[in-house]
Order: sequence, then C-alpha cells, then structure tokens
Amino acid sequence: MLSRTWPIKAALVTIVCAVGTSYAQSTSTFQWPNALLGWADKQLFEGPLSILVAGCSARDDTTVAAQWLRIAYHDMSTHDIDNGLGGLDASIQFELDRPQNVGEGMAASLNDFSEVLINSPFFGTADVIALGAILAVATCGGPFIPFRAGRIDATVAGPATVPQPQESLATHTEDFRQMGFNATEMITLVACGHTLGGVRQVDFPDIIADSEEAFVDFDTTPAFDNTISSVSEYLQNTTQNVLVVGPNVTTRSDFRIFSSDGNATMQSLLDSNTFTQTCADLLERMINTVPSDVTLTQAISEPFNYVVSEPLFSYRNDTLSMATTLRVLNASSSATVTLFWADREGSFCPSTGCSVESSGSEQVLFDINFVGVDVGTAERYQFNATINGATSISKFWFEIDNNDGSSPITIDNNGAGLVIQQDSLFVDNSRSAGFSLPAPSFKTFNTIVVAVRGDATATASIIVFDPFSPNTAPPFLPVVSTVDLVLDETNPPDGDFTFFAGNISRTANFLDLTATSAGTTYTQINFDLSVTDFPFIIESSS
Ligand code: HEM
Ligand SMILES: *[C@@H]1O[C@H](CO)[C@@H](O)[C@H](O)[C@H]1NC(C)=O
Ligand SMILES: *[C@@H]1O[C@H](CO)[C@@H](O)[C@H](O)[C@H]1NC(C)=O
Ligand SMILES: *[C@@H]1O[C@H](CO)[C@@H](O)[C@H](O)[C@H]1NC(C)=O
Ligand SMILES: *[C@@H]1O[C@H](CO)[C@@H](O)[C@H](O)[C@H]1NC(C)=O
Ligand SMILES: *[C@@H]1O[C@H](CO)[C@@H](O)[C@H](O)[C@H]1NC(C)=O
Ligand SMILES: *[C@@H]1O[C@H](CO)[C@@H](O)[C@H](O)[C@H]1NC(C)=O
Ligand SMILES: *[C@@H]1O[C@H](CO)[C@@H](O)[C@H](O)[C@H]1NC(C)=O
Ligand SMILES: *[C@@H]1O[C@H](CO)[C@@H](O)[C@H](O)[C@H]1NC(C)=O
Repeated sequence: MLSRTWPIKAALVTIVCAVGTSYAQSTSTFQWPNALLGWADKQLFEGPLSILVAGCSARDDTTVAAQWLRIAYHDMSTHDIDNGLGGLDASIQFELDRPQNVGEGMAASLNDFSEVLINSPFFGTADVIALGAILAVATCGGPFIPFRAGRIDATVAGPATVPQPQESLATHTEDFRQMGFNATEMITLVACGHTLGGVRQVDFPDIIADSEEAFVDFDTTPAFDNTISSVSEYLQNTTQNVLVVGPNVTTRSDFRIFSSDGNATMQSLLDSNTFTQTCADLLERMINTVPSDVTLTQAISEPFNYVVSEPLFSYRNDTLSMATTLRVLNASSSATVTLFWADREGSFCPSTGCSVESSGSEQVLFDINFVGVDVGTAERYQFNATINGATSISKFWFEIDNNDGSSPITIDNNGAGLVIQQDSLFVDNSRSAGFSLPAPSFKTFNTIVVAVRGDATATASIIVFDPFSPNTAPPFLPVVSTVDLVLDETNPPDGDFTFFAGNISRTANFLDLTATSAGTTYTQINFDLSVTDFPFIIESSS
C-alpha cells in the first residue's frame, strides 16, 4: 500500500503545447501542485481583500489605503541588515503599545486583514500586510507592485526601531541604513509614503497643537501622485505637511529628510514617471524586506495561465468521484475542455486515458479589478469524473481544444501528469456537511467525513487550521487544533472504505489528514476546504 503524501492543495501547472514545447513565460507556468503559489495567485487576483480598500476609500479622516501602507512600513521597520533579523513579519501585532505605533489605523488595518479569513497554514498575516500595501498603492492611482508570498509570521515583538519625528536626521539616516535603504532611498521612500494620508492631532499633539485641527493631510490630494503631492507642493513651498512646516521645528522630520541632499532627490521626483517608477521599486523592496532566513516566491504580476483547484473525492458503492476545476486565462469562447485520467492498474482506462468533458464553466471577474488593475478575465471550467473504484486514479491532465484549427493545448506538468499520490485517505466531499442547530444552541459546524481504506480498527485524525481569531483586539492569531475522528455510524463501510467523522468550525479553511490502517500510515497535508461545496443543513426545533 502507498503511504506517501497527497498533492498539496490548489495548484498551478506547467503548460505544454501539443507539440511538446513549454511556454517561455516563467511567471505563467509551474509544476502542480504548489500550495503557496496557488493561494498567492488566488488572494492577489480573486481574493476578498481588495474590496475593503477599493476606490482609495475614506476612513477616520484619512483613507484605508494610507492606514494599510503605514502599517506595512512600520512592520518592516524592525529589519536589521547587520544581523538579518526582523522585517515584514507581522511582529507589529505585538508592538501596538509603543508610542511609535500610535494611531487607530493600526488596529483597524489588522482587523481588516483578520476578518477576510485568508490566512492559511503557509500564508500568514505578514503576507496579508504585504498584499494590503500592494492593493492600497494601486487603488489610489499608484503603480501595481508585483507580489511575492512566503513571509513567516513572528510570534513575539521585534526591536523598537520605527523612526519618530522628533529624532535627528543622523538618527533617521542610520535607522534607514539598518533597514537596508541608503540616504537617497530614505528621501524617496518617505516622499512615496507621505503622498497618502496625514497626521492626526490626537496621536501627535506635539506636532499639531491646535486640538480644533483633528487631521492635517500631507498634501492636497488623497491620491498616490506627485503632481499636487508632497513632492511638488514641498518644492513650491506651498506644502501643508506638518512634518515639513509644522510650528514645532523639532518634529519637522520630513523637512530635514527631504532637504538633506540640497533637494536633489526631491527635484528628480518632480518627473511623474520617475516618481512612479522609483516608488514602485522602493515600495517593492520595502514589502520584500524580510528576515534573511525567509525565502519568498517568484514575483506574481499577472494571473497564472492555468490554475487547478483541489480535487474533491467521494466514494460510494464502488465508485469514486473526483470533482475539480481549471481556470483558463483569456479562454476562447469556442473552447472544449476535457479532463483525462489514468487508473492505478493500467487495466480499466485505455492508454489514452478515461475522459470527461467539462460539465460547465463560469466567467471569473478578477477582484483586483476593483482596485483599478485590469488583468482581464478568465473562465473556470468544472469537471466531475466518475472513476471505477477498483482501479481508481493515479494521475490526471487536461486538454483544451479551441476548435479553431489550432493544436489542442495539454496541461499535464510537462508530461508527468497531475499525480494523485495516494487514494487511501481523503475527505469525502459528498458525505461531509455543514449544520446549523436550532435554539437554544444555534451552534453551526461542519461535520468532516473522511474515507480510510481499511476497517473499523483504523484510526484517523485531522489538524484543523481556522483563520478566524476569537480575539477582539490584536494580535489576531489563527486557531490550530487536532481533532481525533470517530467511526461514523451514519456512513457504514462501503467497498474497501470505512468512514470516520469529526466536527470542526465552519471558518476552518485547511486540514492535514492522518490515518493508520493495518499498520500503514497515510497523510494528506493542506487539504483546501475553501473549495468544497458541502450541503448546509439547517435543523429546525420541532
Ligand atoms: C523618518 C521616517 C518617518 C517618520 C518620522 C514618519 C512619521 C509619520 C507620522 C508622525 C505620521 C502620522 C501618523 C498619525 O497621525 O497617526 C505618519 C503617517 C504616515 N506615514 Fe510616515 N513617517 C516616516 C516614514 C514613512 C514611510 C517610509 C512610509 C511608507 C513608505 C510612511 C507612510 C505613512 C503613511 C501612509 C501615513 C499616513 C497614515 C494615515 O493617514 O493614517 N511613513 N508618518
Ligand atoms: C543609494 O543607492 C542608489 C541606487 O543603488 C544610488 O543611485 C544612490 O547614489 C545611493 N545614494 C547614496 C547616498 O549612497
Ligand atoms: C515639540 O516636540 C517635542 C518632541 O515631541 C516636544 O518635546 C516639545 O514639547 C514640542 N514643543 C512644543 C512647543 O510643543
Ligand atoms: C516657505 O514658506 C515659509 C512659510 O510658509 C517661509 O517662512 C519661508 O521663508 C518660505 N521659504 C521659501 C524658500 O520661500
Ligand atoms: C529645499 O526646498 C525647501 C522647500 O522649497 C526650501 O525651504 C529649502 O530651503 C530648500 N533647501 C535647499 C538646500 O535648497
Ligand atoms: C450499488 O451497486 C449495485 C450493483 O452495482 C446496485 O445493485 C445498487 O443498486 C447500487 N446501490 C446504490 C445505492 O446506488
Ligand atoms: C490576457 O488578456 C489580457 C488583457 O487583454 C492581456 O493583457 C494578457 O496578455 C493576456 N494574457 C494571456 C496569457 O493571453
Ligand atoms: C460529483 O458526482 C458525484 C456522483 O454523481 C456526486 O456525489 C458529487 O456530489 C459530485 N460532486 C460535485 C462537486 O459536483
Ligand atoms: C457533531 O455535533 C453534533 C451536534 O452536537 C453531534 O450530534 C454529532 O455527534 C457530532 N459528530 C461528531 C462526529 O462528533
């Protein structure tokens, strides 16, 4: 019996033309499965975060975008280039009691990032903060910064190294050097950051003495721009930025920084292409400033051409069903898309594979379009394969025929196929269900039914990742728990399989499965619950 791990969740694939040459665009292709790249693509292009910041929307006298960019900068500020520690690592969650991090935007932003429930076992709050900065800059008219994922969340506070306005130019220059930015880059990064938002009186009464003045914007537009921004208004000496012209000379840190090279860098940023390009480069470096032992993924700036979702299995009456989807970028309206699979014994399916055509498709309107980034549209094709339970499935692949005379495109990991590592342990998608209990309990939960090849002497457990934090204030940490599954009396054994069940939170989004049967241990890690379609049963009190 096989005891290897299952493919890691939602996946992206390498494409191969019918003639066998792989496409050149490295950002559009990779081997399936890849949990992190799949999730990063999904959250960047189809995720729920963008709607919260769309339209450079206002909040608390400023914009959501300004709050999201400031928190990314403050979180990054713990980086120390000399020892490689710190950086964008969500340590900000443990640093909010420091005067450097004053401001209601901090907790509000972390609350935004927490409530969209996009954390996963491999995609933490640090990745969400970086994603937030990208969406913030883009939606206020700034550049679209490529996204890399893979940050690791800190579990404790970092050093207190966020620069403060009353500190000297020499201190700020050293602070930025320690973060990895030289004196010129410091000027630019501050100018890019301070085109959004402004200063709140309650947070900085030493800077804004007049309590009638609740908030003073850095410049006269909420947009990410240099035309009427901190740059040109500063050089024309018309700026209202209180860190430049505020009555308290001690806290004029922007003035000291902007004029530190005789205004040469600020003069260069007057050109709007230079401003946009330089801000894009430095803000990208800022969000990718991570501890030296963290490796980020490749940069993603466009949706992957082909994305395969977690295969969902169910076993009933000696038949295995497998449902999955394929997202195709810029799909042809005349396309026919077919799923092929090979069995595990080479006996039931012909050498060309068993096959099923897509049962339908839906247009994917990328959510990132809400923030003003047009990456086009895609089509998501659905499949549900009926597989002989005895011979099962070893791998699958897709073929897209545009029916226009061109050669069909095969999506098969460069010929290897999309491999199903083991078929002895899986969440049974059609036997699992969501429940809502009547009053007085009102409890809601998912009952996860897991199929294990073996008999009632088998044991099974799951590790449950729930991104929903019960905390009402930061830190908003996910809840990870282990649930031992029990023999499922409502699903008696069927064929070679015995069913085990457990109740979990409805907001849980990933599971790791383990089962031991007749001395063999099976595992599947990072099963993506977010693509399942369990029925939801509302029980009435009668
Ligand atoms: C020496 C360096 C810096 C100092 C002393 C500084 C200081 C400040 C202060 C005092 C505020 C007002 C916050 C409040 O009222 O709650 C502020 C706001 C802000 N800062 Fe900085 N900052 C610096 C660098 C940066 C950098 C590098 C960025 C990003 C690239 C940035 C982004 C922002 C943003 C977006 C806001 C507006 C927040 C809002 O409106 O809610 N800052 N900064
Ligand atoms: C900072 O680095 C940039 C790019 O590497 C360079 O052009 C600039 O001259 C440097 N500035 C200083 C003050 O060293
Ligand atoms: C100016 O700011 C500094 C630093 O916060 C503070 O110590 C000082 O009291 C302020 N001066 C005035 C006149 O508010
Ligand atoms: C800029 O404006 C301030 C007051 O708003 C004034 O004191 C200063 O002399 C001006 N500087 C220049 C170079 O015009
Ligand atoms: C830089 O520009 C500011 C704003 O116009 C001005 O007040 C300051 O004197 C300039 N500094 C230098 C060294 O030119
Ligand atoms: C299961 O399969 C057997 C034989 O193939 C058939 O007689 C029976 O009706 C099936 N049961 C269900 C519930 O589909
Ligand atoms: C998809 O369409 C968009 C918008 O038309 C275009 O920019 C992009 O290059 C296309 N990508 C592919 C892979 O065809
Ligand atoms: C796939 O088909 C099986 C058998 O008809 C069914 O039980 C299952 O719910 C279907 N899955 C999906 C996701 O449509
Ligand atoms: C799930 O919870 C319901 C309601 O409390 C209970 O009846 C059922 O036995 C539980 N199932 C499992 C597998 O724990």
